[in-house]
Amino acid sequence: MEKAGPRVRPSEALPLHIHTSKVQPKRRWKLVSALISLAVLFYWRDCLSRCLLSFSKVSSRRRETHSYTRNKAYIIEATNGAVASENEICSNIGVGTLKGGGNAVDAVISTTLCIGVVNMFSSGIGGGGFMTVRIPPSSPNTSSEVFNIDFREVAPALANTTMYKNDPAASLFGGLAVGVPGELRGLEEAHRRWGTLPWKQLVQPSVELARGWTMQTELSRRIHEEFFASLMLGNPDWRAIFAPNGRLLQAGETIRRTNLSRTLAMIAEEGPGALYKGPIANSLVKKVHSTGGILSHQDLEHYRVKVMPALQGTYRGRTVYTTHAPTSGPVLLHMLNLMEHYDALIEEGRTLENMHRYIEAMKFGFAARTKVCDPTFANDSTSIEEIPTKAYSDLVFPNITDDRTHAPEYYHPIFDMVDDHGTSHSSVVDKNGMAVALTSTVNMVFGSQVMDPETGIILNDQMDDFSTPGKPNIFGLYPSPFNYPEPGKRPLSSTTPTIIEHEDGSFYLAIGGSGGSRIFPAVFQVILNMDWGMDASAAIEYGRIHDQLYPLMADVDSVYSDEIIAGLREKGHNVTVSDINRIASVVQVVSKKGDNIYAASDSRKNGVAAGY
Ligand code: GLY
Repeated sequence: MEKAGPRVRPSEALPLHIHTSKVQPKRRWKLVSALISLAVLFYWRDCLSRCLLSFSKVSSRRRETHSYTRNKAYIIEATNGAVASENEICSNIGVGTLKGGGNAVDAVISTTLCIGVVNMFSSGIGGGGFMTVRIPPSSPNTSSEVFNIDFREVAPALANTTMYKNDPAASLFGGLAVGVPGELRGLEEAHRRWGTLPWKQLVQPSVELARGWTMQTELSRRIHEEFFASLMLGNPDWRAIFAPNGRLLQAGETIRRTNLSRTLAMIAEEGPGALYKGPIANSLVKKVHSTGGILSHQDLEHYRVKVMPALQGTYRGRTVYTTHAPTSGPVLLHMLNLMEHYDALIEEGRTLENMHRYIEAMKFGFAARTKVCDPTFANDSTSIEEIPTKAYSDLVFPNITDDRTHAPEYYHPIFDMVDDHGTSHSSVVDKNGMAVALTSTVNMVFGSQVMDPETGIILNDQMDDFSTPGKPNIFGLYPSPFNYPEPGKRPLSSTTPTIIEHEDGSFYLAIGGSGGSRIFPAVFQVILNMDWGMDASAAIEYGRIHDQLYPLMADVDSVYSDEIIAGLREKGHNVTVSDINRIASVVQVVSKKGDNIYAASDSRKNGVAAGY
C-alpha cells in the first residue's frame, strides 16, 4: 500500500551572496573578445547566445542593486519512489509509471521518451547516451548488482579520421554530423532485462504528449534565441512545428509534433527495432543523405549497445558506481579519490583551502580526461584503466600544492577537450531500491539541426565529440589521436550517470547532469555539497566553480564570497565571476536517507522532480 504522498517544499538553497564588483570592465572586455572569437570560429553558438544573455544579466544585476532572480527550486520528499528529470511533465510521467506498478527502469524509459518530446533540444530518439542501473539485493544475504548500458552513438561505417578536416563546422551542423542513434536500443535493452510493464505502455504517454502540449519556458527561450529563431523560421522542416503560422510559438501556446507522435506510435506497437529497419529507417537515411551525411541502412541495422558491470570505486566508505570510458566516469572517480586524501574536508567545509583543492582536483581531472576515448579502439587501454584507481590518485595527490595553482602543462594534459551544451539527465529510484541514472543527449542544442519531417526525429551531432586531426580546436589546442572518428567508434563523452551506495550497501544517490565538459565537475561538486550537509536541492542550486585547464580561467558562480574570490586570485587562479543563472551545467538527483527519498531537479533549466 502506498504510504504518504510527496511533500514538496521550497529548496533549502542557501541565501545568495551578491558581489557587485566581481566583473571588472577589463575582464569583461577580455571575455567579450573571447566570445567574439567563438562566433568567428563558428562554434559553440548556443554558448555564445547564453553567455551574451549572462552578460546582460550581469549588467542588470548591478543595476538591480544586489538581487538575483533565480528560478524556483524544489526538493521533493517521498516514501515510495521519485524521478528527477529536467522537465516537470516528464518527472510526473515517470512517477505515473511507478505508481502504475512499474519499476525504476520502466520509469526512466517513460521519462526519457518524454524528454525527447518536450525538451527535444536536449535529447531524443535521434541521439544516444549511457545509463547506470542498480538492481537491489534479492535477499538480505546478497548484494546489489549495478550495470552500465552504453547506448552512445557510433561513427557510421563510412566515417574516417579526416572527415572534418576541411570543414570543421560539418561535425556540428548537417547530415555529416550525425552519429548512429542509440537511445532506443539502450531503452530496449534495459526494458528487456529489467522492465516489468509492457513496452507500449511506457511509450504511450509520449505518443499522446507529442500530439500537442503547452510550450514551456525553456523551449520557448531557446527557439527565440537569434541563432535558433533563424532555423525555426527559415527551415520548413522546423517551421512547421515551431512557427506553424509563420511566427515563433511562445510559452503557453500549444505545440504539436504530430509527425513524431506517429513515429512513436509505430515504435510503441512494433518495438524499438522500428527505428532501425523499415519505413522510419528509410526516411532517416534519406534525410541524412540529402543534408550531406553518410548514415546508411547497415549502420542502423548493425548498431549494438554494450552492457557491462558498472565502473566501481569508493569515496569515504561509500561505493560509487559510474560509467566506463568513453564517458568521464573514470575522471569523476579520480577527482573523488584526490579529495579523499583530505581527512578534515568534511569538518572544515567550504573554506578557501578546500575550494582551491577542488579546483586543483578538477584540473588534474581534466588532464586525465585527455587520455579517455572509446577503449575498444585504444591501442593500450591501461592508461584509461588506471585513472579511477586509488593508486593513481596516490601518485597525483602530492602534486596538489595548497599555496598556488599552476599552468596547464603542470597537470600533464596530453591533448585537447571539447565542449557542448545539449544533453539531459534523469535519476530514478523505486520502492525496492532499484535505481537508474541515465544521461541522454543529441549533443548540441537541437543536435545537428537536421529534423526529418516525415518522422519528426531530430538527429544528433555527436560526431563533434570526436577530435579532428591537424585542426586545433577553438582554444588552439591540438586534437587527441585517441579520439579521432573511426567506423563504429564511440566519441568521448563528459557524461557520468552515477549511483552511490551507503556503507551498508543501501541506496544513497543517483546523480548525473548535462552541460558538456561541465557535467562531471558539476556532479563532483554536488556530491561534495551533500557531504557538507546540504540537502539534494541546496547542493544542486549552490554556485559552481569550473576550470578545465583551457581557457585559462576559473569560472566562479556569482555566489562565492569576496574572501574566497580574493583568496583564489592570490593563489594564482584567473577567476572570472559569472552569473549563476547562466545555463552552464544542470544536475538531477534522487537520494535516500533513512526511509525518506529526496529528489531535486536543477532550477537552472527549470526542472522539477516528482515523487510519491
Ligand atoms: N555530447 C555530450 C557528451 O556526451 O559529453
